[in-house]
Amino acid sequence: MTVTTACPPPPGGGNFADDGADLRLFEHIARELEDKGYCLYTGGLSEGLEVILSDQIAEIPERDFRPARIGRKVARRKNNSIRRDTISWITGERPAGKAWLDWADALRLYLNRRLFLGLNSFESHYARYGAGDFYRRHYDAFQGESNRILSLVAYLNHDWQPGDGGELLMYPGGGGRAPVAVAPAFGTLAVFLSEEMPHEVLPCRSERLSIAGWFRVRPIEIPLS
Ligand code: OGA
Ligand code: MN
Repeated sequence: MTVTTACPPPPGGGNFADDGADLRLFEHIARELEDKGYCLYTGGLSEGLEVILSDQIAEIPERDFRPARIGRKVARRKNNSIRRDTISWITGERPAGKAWLDWADALRLYLNRRLFLGLNSFESHYARYGAGDFYRRHYDAFQGESNRILSLVAYLNHDWQPGDGGELLMYPGGGGRAPVAVAPAFGTLAVFLSEEMPHEVLPCRSERLSIAGWFRVRPIEIPLS
């Protein structure tokens, strides 16, 4: 298995994490989504946002992380044979969360202009996987309610080593081809189309910290009269 720890530099090269960084990164994401339905990027976010987020996740008390659940509404349930991480939703009350939501909103507006995606909201949580935790293969878009359009994951593990496990495996095209394995190393970002990309998190051998988020469109409501 080849694990992606770095992605090729974008056209024009260089690290995005400087002035004008966001727009260049946003454009890179737009192009990669157009070309292949996903984007991997390892250059870090602008103004050290991932450093702020990583400091923040370390400060969140254990009791504020809840077992993650699967499904939505009535079908929502805990199922620890499918998913074992614990999560803490990002509300924007703390500065780090607010900065992340603002950044995601700027990306949302950019992608709407560039790809006409019509994304109108974003939800996101911190996630902590302990040793032995995993998330079996799944889609992020809920069945019968496929309003999650784009998934975004940022990894916050400073000293990730290959033996630590917890790689993200993405199956472009639904699984006929070899999966793309992503190391959950600090500063790596994965973006993919929620309805088209089955993916899983391999079992972790040490703690794994990340942020996952989803851009949504409202489900179409057809007026009755
Ligand atoms: C998820 C998810 C991937 C990851 O939370 O839905 O698939 O690499 N996360 O953390
Ligand atoms: Mn997922």
